[in-house]
Amino acid sequence: MTGIPLTLRAPAGEVALETNLMLAPIAGWCDLAWRETCRSFGGVGLACTDLLSPQGLLCGSEASIDLARTSELDRPICMQLYGGNAAVLADGARWCADHGATVVDINMGCPVDKVCKKDGGSKLMCDVPNTLRIFEAVRGALPDSTPLTAKMRLGWSEDDYERGVAGELAVGLCKLGAAAITVHGRTTEQRFKGDCRREGIRRVVDAVGEATGAHDGTTTGGVPVLGNGDVKTPEDVLEMLDDTGCAGVMIGRGAFGMPWVFRLGWEAQRALAEGRVPRDLEPSEDEKLDGVLAYFERMLEYRNEHYALHKIRQKISWLGKTINGSHCKPLKAGVQGAKTPDDVRAAIAAWRVGMPAGSGV
Ligand SMILES: Cc1cc2nc3c(=O)[nH]c(=O)nc-3n(C[C@H](O)[C@H](O)[C@H](O)COP(=O)(O)O)c2cc1C
Repeated sequence: MTGIPLTLRAPAGEVALETNLMLAPIAGWCDLAWRETCRSFGGVGLACTDLLSPQGLLCGSEASIDLARTSELDRPICMQLYGGNAAVLADGARWCADHGATVVDINMGCPVDKVCKKDGGSKLMCDVPNTLRIFEAVRGALPDSTPLTAKMRLGWSEDDYERGVAGELAVGLCKLGAAAITVHGRTTEQRFKGDCRREGIRRVVDAVGEATGAHDGTTTGGVPVLGNGDVKTPEDVLEMLDDTGCAGVMIGRGAFGMPWVFRLGWEAQRALAEGRVPRDLEPSEDEKLDGVLAYFERMLEYRNEHYALHKIRQKISWLGKTINGSHCKPLKAGVQGAKTPDDVRAAIAAWRVGMPAGSGV
C-alpha cells in the first residue's frame, strides 16, 4: 500500500488527497498556524482541527470559532466534532460544511472526562448501535459531497479490545458511508500509556477490508483505515503501514519537533515503491528557523500577541529538539524569555547569525 494517495468518498463525490499522511488533531497544538506550518514543509495529505464543540460553533463562541478558523492554504481541511447528541452533532456538521470543511470527522476516541461525561469522545465506543444511529444522522445532515470520517481507539477497556469492538464499530460506520476510519492503537483505559498496539489496528484494517474490500486508492476500492500512534520518523511510517496494512498514517506528537516528518514519510514511501534510496529532504538549519519564525508570525496574524507569545514560549522546547541537533539552549532561552514579538524575532535572528555549526551549545 505504500505511496498510494488516499481517496475519501462521499455519497456523491470524492476528495482525492495528495498523500496518505494526515496531521492529527491535538487540542492546544493544531491551530491554523500549526497546520499551515506543517503543510508548508510538504507531505501533508489532510490536516485536522482540534476537537470542536458543535454547541460552541452554533452559538458563535469566540473560542470555538477561533479553533475552526481555516484559510485558502489550509486545504484540504478536516473539522473534528465531539459530543453524543445526534441532532446537535448534525447541526454542527452542517455548520462545518458551510464554513470551509472539506471533510468532517466525529471524535470517538477522546478519553478526557469533560468530553466522556457528556457521552462524547470514546464514550461513543461503549454503545455501538447508538453511535451508528448518531453517525447516520450526521451523514444525513451533511451535503452529499462532503466525506464524513471517524477517529477511534481500540475500545474503552481490555475487554472491548478482546471482543473486537473497534472492528465492529468501524465496519458499521463504513456500511453507513464513512469515508475513512482512523484508529489510535490504544484503549481508552490506556490513555497514552504503553506502546501503540499495531496488532489491534491490523484487526480493524482486516475487519474493514473484509466488509468493504481492500483500499487500493481508487474510487471503487474499500474504505481506507488510517493507523495512528507513536509515529515519529519516516521509518515509523513505513512500519505502521507494513505492520497493520493500513492505507494511511496519522501523526500527532511526532510533528511537534519535526513538522517536516510528513514530507520525509511521503518520500520514504515513494522511494520504497520505486525501488530507490530516499532523497535527503531534511530541511537545512535555516529552513527550520524560517519555519519557527513563520509559525510565530502566523499565530500573531491569526490570534493575538498574548496567544502567540504564550504558545511559542511553550513550543520552542519541542521545536528546539531538532535545531542544531537539539543543542540550541541560547535560542530556547531567548524565546522563552521574550516579552514582545520583537524579542522572539531578535532571539531567532541572533541564533541564526551566531549559530556555530555543530557547536553543541
Ligand atoms: C495533548 C493531546 C491532545 C489531543 N487532542 C485530540 C483531539 O482534539 N482530537 C482527537 O481526535 N485526538 C486528540 N488527541 C489524540 C491524538 O490525535 C492522537 O490520536 C494520539 O496523540 C496518538 O498519536 P501520536 O502518537 O501520533 O500523537 C490528543 C492527544 C494529545 C497528546
